Amino acid sequence: MIRAAHAAAPGKIILFGEHAVVHGQPAIAVPLAAVQVQARADPASAGSGLTIRAADIGRVFRFRDAAENHSFYNALIYPLRLALDWLHQSEPDLTITVQSTIPIGGGLGSGAALAAALIRVLLAALDSPLPRETVNALVYEVEKRHHGSPSGVDNTVIVYAQPVYFVRGQPLETFEISRPFTLLVADSGISSPTHITVGDVRQLYDAEPDRVGAIFARIGEIVRAARTAIESGKIELLGSLMNENHALLRDLTVSSDKLERLCRAALDAGAQGAKLSGGGRGGNIIALAEPGQTDQIAAALRQQGAARVIETVVRS
Ligand code: PMV
Repeated sequence: MIRAAHAAAPGKIILFGEHAVVHGQPAIAVPLAAVQVQARADPASAGSGLTIRAADIGRVFRFRDAAENHSFYNALIYPLRLALDWLHQSEPDLTITVQSTIPIGGGLGSGAALAAALIRVLLAALDSPLPRETVNALVYEVEKRHHGSPSGVDNTVIVYAQPVYFVRGQPLETFEISRPFTLLVADSGISSPTHITVGDVRQLYDAEPDRVGAIFARIGEIVRAARTAIESGKIELLGSLMNENHALLRDLTVSSDKLERLCRAALDAGAQGAKLSGGGRGGNIIALAEPGQTDQIAAALRQQGAARVIETVVRS
């Protein structure tokens, strides 16, 4: 029995620890509900098969026609194929419509959120719920196709939709945010593929293991200190930790002129800390702001060319 269904998945931001997390250090990430993927499933006539409508780009894909070299295969077809294979189920007669407000290649988890929403809506339409761990494992498989060697932080924070303290290969660890805090998320407008920056950092590590290993280790210390600060409500400690984490990411070569300008603009306008978030070189920066200062910081970010500024309150 196939039924109509709806599912959604949020975006995400990495607060601390990107890149070092690929090499075994912890990272802290939180969901970003201000941007989302929405998916709807509607039963279709017998024999019509599975159709995916990507509403944002106005295109329609037939599951059975999509070859693996198709440009949208990894994003739209592969998550559904994985879920159907897991269920040992053949192609259902179903139309899935997806819509996303998460910018692609911006470090806000667009790929993982798309996969999570597609898999969830398919499971709901087939009335075949799976445990979150399984959905997470399937989305991780999709992430591997996008990125090669992802740490798993994106899929975990998006599938569980709660703040996570993530260590590669370890069970999920959540933590308490005892005092909510406000972040501005500013989009550089530059799309930068994560697998390139992750590959470049790996090369740097191979070339200079001592220096780069020490940077990873220091980022790990920052992440642990940030967790303690967040758990104990000492938000005033986060700003300098963000600034130091950003400087270390710059040393790892994943900042850029635009990201530097955005961080500088946020700090000059009164932010307590700022750093790039995600893969880097493009994508987003995050800035820690007192609630009364958000307008002036957002204005400064826009003046420096931010394509979009999202204000979000981070809470448990
Ligand atoms: O997907 P992004 O751009 O938010 O980056 C993910 C974070 C990295 O640490 C750079 C990669 C990873 O797999 O954890």
